[in-house]
Amino acid sequence: MNTIQAILNRRSIRKYADKSLSKDLILQLLKAGMYAPSARNSRAWQFVVIQNREMLNQLSQLHPYGKMLQEAACTILVCGDRSIEKTEGYLAINCAAATQNILLAAHELGLGSVWLGVYPRQERMNEISEFLQLPGHLMPVSLISLGYPAEQRAFPGRFELEKIIWK
Ligand SMILES: Cc1cc2nc3c(=O)[nH]c(=O)nc-3n(C[C@H](O)[C@H](O)[C@H](O)COP(=O)(O)O)c2cc1C
Repeated sequence: MNTIQAILNRRSIRKYADKSLSKDLILQLLKAGMYAPSARNSRAWQFVVIQNREMLNQLSQLHPYGKMLQEAACTILVCGDRSIEKTEGYLAINCAAATQNILLAAHELGLGSVWLGVYPRQERMNEISEFLQLPGHLMPVSLISLGYPAEQRAFPGRFELEKIIWK
């Protein structure tokens, strides 16, 4: 799969097989995340990997649109590190780039994934920080639900010429 194919064929996958992910696979995903661009190359992020079934179930209750975490083999919480990057906007943007890298890597590796929004919903950020007992300098930005796919989704066209302004 080349990069363009991965971008055009990726879909959010919310149903998963009952199969765990190897540590090697998870490390490959994290590596993809850590190769994302970041403002001033700050790499001001931390990744929390959650495979514990009970915690996945609790997170599925905590996140209003996170029911699929009940089936997920793993979730990665992408956090910005305020002790390295002070500007909240950059923290969020950097983490979004890392999140997208992980989604694309997951697709390439035959996994299904979906991005669950955390930032900028303050209540969600607080609840997740509290549940995972995150240190105060970490700002949760996104949860990525992961597993071997148990659904197939079509790839609808999204190219819209009218969204382009040529000068
Ligand atoms: C910032 C952000 C937050 C999202 N939050 C959720 C979410 O809470 N639950 C969910 O099921 N999908 C969530 N998604 C996934 C979108 O619903 C999905 O990307 C969109 O419908 C397009 O579908 P696709 O990913 O299959 O291309 C989120 C995506 C982004 C970028």
